[in-house]
Amino acid sequence: MFTHVPRVPIRHAGEHAGQSVEIAGWLYNLRKSGKIVFPLLRDGTGILQCVAVKSELDEALFETLKNLTQESSLIVRGRVRAEARAPGGFEMDIESADVVQRVPESDPYPITPKEHGVDFLMDHRHLWLRSKRQHAILGVRHEVIRGIRDYFDSHGFTLVDTPIFTPAACEGTTTLFEVDYFEGEKVYLTQSGQLYNEANAMAFGKVYCFGPTFRAEKSKTRRHLTEFWMVEPEMAYATLDDVKRVAEELIVFVVGRVLENRGRELAELERDTARLEAIRAPFPRIGYDEAVERLKRKGSEIEWGGDFGGTDETLLSEDFDRPVMVDRYPSRVKAFYFQPDPERAEVALGVDLLAPEGYGEIVGGGQRIHDLDLLLRRIEEHRLPREAFEWYLDLRKYGSVPHAGFGMGVERFVAWMCGLEHIRETIAYPRMLNRTRP
Ligand code: 4AD
Ligand code: MG
Repeated sequence: MFTHVPRVPIRHAGEHAGQSVEIAGWLYNLRKSGKIVFPLLRDGTGILQCVAVKSELDEALFETLKNLTQESSLIVRGRVRAEARAPGGFEMDIESADVVQRVPESDPYPITPKEHGVDFLMDHRHLWLRSKRQHAILGVRHEVIRGIRDYFDSHGFTLVDTPIFTPAACEGTTTLFEVDYFEGEKVYLTQSGQLYNEANAMAFGKVYCFGPTFRAEKSKTRRHLTEFWMVEPEMAYATLDDVKRVAEELIVFVVGRVLENRGRELAELERDTARLEAIRAPFPRIGYDEAVERLKRKGSEIEWGGDFGGTDETLLSEDFDRPVMVDRYPSRVKAFYFQPDPERAEVALGVDLLAPEGYGEIVGGGQRIHDLDLLLRRIEEHRLPREAFEWYLDLRKYGSVPHAGFGMGVERFVAWMCGLEHIRETIAYPRMLNRTRP
């Protein structure tokens, strides 16, 4: 009690075997066995089994620990010792402890070790984040985001973030969230930073933006959120082939980072890592025409000219052990800005990457129209308000060049890495048609 002991995170507790240390955390669980209690402590970096022996502790302290309630906050001090049977391989023999806040029995922690329904857990998302599985998923998410940033930062891309409030629709007018505040013009939450990225690429060459994007998705699916994070690179003097090359490199790099640094989390999630180890270049590349043929053979109702639904994407990806690139979709199912194939005007120089194991489209992108007259025609055909795009048209007047880029959705990528049924657990506070709380 009177000697100073260093405070250490549980993750590093094993490095202090044989020494006394202090750990500040919360009670994850408590096992009792007669004159010994085993408080399981978590601190955000790991879980440590502690041991409190009645004969070796002050009686009041032993009683306090014995009657401690789940998720009470406490600071413990004691010696760390190797113990093969303990989770993590180490245990702590408690010498002293201070309870910071005791959760009262009258209002106990709502999430108990028993099974709860997903709606109940989502309503308690602010607490659910403390559980092992959610903790593992968000750890993988952090690694994915770090990997994405490291990839772009080390490949000559400048980070230029784009606005959230925008006057123009990028991905079609059906999924726009209107914001009722600004004077004089209609303003929406951004669906994509792409249009600004294009301006930034003309200023910096290679850029990326990385932030939240919004889609008023009317459908409730396991792949759609109304608020999701997207990373979007954009390159001047670039073509569809550059998009394919960069997307492939990025994905191989980020999967490698997750495998290298998050083995513990993947094990907690019981993820089959062999499926992730198979993610190597080159990825298979097929055209939309071939994709439609494959789908028809598999019994899909798809006809040439239609867009793929979620089921079609799953069917297509079944044939491959890594993401499949599907290019040259019909222009009419794609956004207004896609450059048409010079050899086949009816198809767009765009590509979607469909993840294996049925995780759907993780990347969408392609080459942009760089000709002013063609772009003007498309803006008219899509009935977009020209005034909102005047600045965007300037990019085609002042040094226009072929350019290309893509967007990758973080949550779909994380769902794939973790092997999750549903995208909702890949973000701390998911936003969906029927969920805006907590
Ligand atoms: O295919 P999308 O709509 O492409 C764009 O927004 C382009 N402007 C990007 C660009 O070229 N700069 O979206 C890109 C990716 C999808 O492949 C998917 O991973 C993700 O964003 N995504 C969603 N993720 C979760 N919920 C949704 N509702 C999503 N919509 C798209
Ligand atoms: Mg898309």
